[in-house]
Amino acid sequence: MILKDPSLVKKRDAMAAAGAIVAEALNLVARTVAPGVRTGELDAMVEELIRSRGALPSFKGYNGYPASVCTSVNDEIVHGIPGPRRLVSGDILSVDVGAFLGGYHGDAALTIPVGDIDELSARLIRVTRASLEAALTRCRAGNHIGDVGSVVQTMALEAGFQVVRDFTGHGIGRRLHERPQIPNYGRPGAGPVIRSGDALAVEPMINAGTMAIKILEDNWTAVTYDGSRSAHFEHTVFVGERGAEILTPWDWRWDDL
Ligand code: MF3
Ligand code: CO
Repeated sequence: MILKDPSLVKKRDAMAAAGAIVAEALNLVARTVAPGVRTGELDAMVEELIRSRGALPSFKGYNGYPASVCTSVNDEIVHGIPGPRRLVSGDILSVDVGAFLGGYHGDAALTIPVGDIDELSARLIRVTRASLEAALTRCRAGNHIGDVGSVVQTMALEAGFQVVRDFTGHGIGRRLHERPQIPNYGRPGAGPVIRSGDALAVEPMINAGTMAIKILEDNWTAVTYDGSRSAHFEHTVFVGERGAEILTPWDWRWDDL
């Protein structure tokens, strides 16, 4: 990472510290997830970890959100609220974590298989994760936000899936959500230009069925309209002179998926 502006170096370093806590929390969740575990237990573990590192959970209290983690199971896309629900073998669990440290936020997510999952779910997870990795290669100074979304959209459609349009990735920094919005669709060359020093939260959300969604009565949980499953992967990255540095390096691997 070559950065000439010292204030950008400070921003990058502070965000890397916040992001490291997010990654640590997601790694802990990935190790803990198993049939029988309650989503509320994951929330409690993560909140304790974040606070023990001197950080604050970014999501708790954000627009009234009641927890430190979002846990979205199967047809739940994002913003599922942790609680007494027990995971069962065959579920897929999307976990989203944010941490605030030193004046900056980190934000990341991943979708974890619970026990043995069916082949469609495994493919959905593989495609969504691969689309995040492809999207991150497009996060270069001089590229456009449409370059990022278009690669996610193309990969989803080629797999026979659809991208969620009601939620987007986002700039991130001193606030959890900053400009620009980063849709998971678009055209190459369209949208705002990405610049060195930008911090971006890139987060493909891909449904196995239709892109249509609905929000449950808790006013948070977004689910697929048709009940199909959904996967979500997210990294916070910092754009330097030569591409994006991942600031939330969770290291969960699905070699057997
Ligand atoms: N990664 C999600 C987002 O960027 C998490 C926000 S959950 C909320 O929207 F509770 F904070 F809203
Ligand atoms: Co986000």
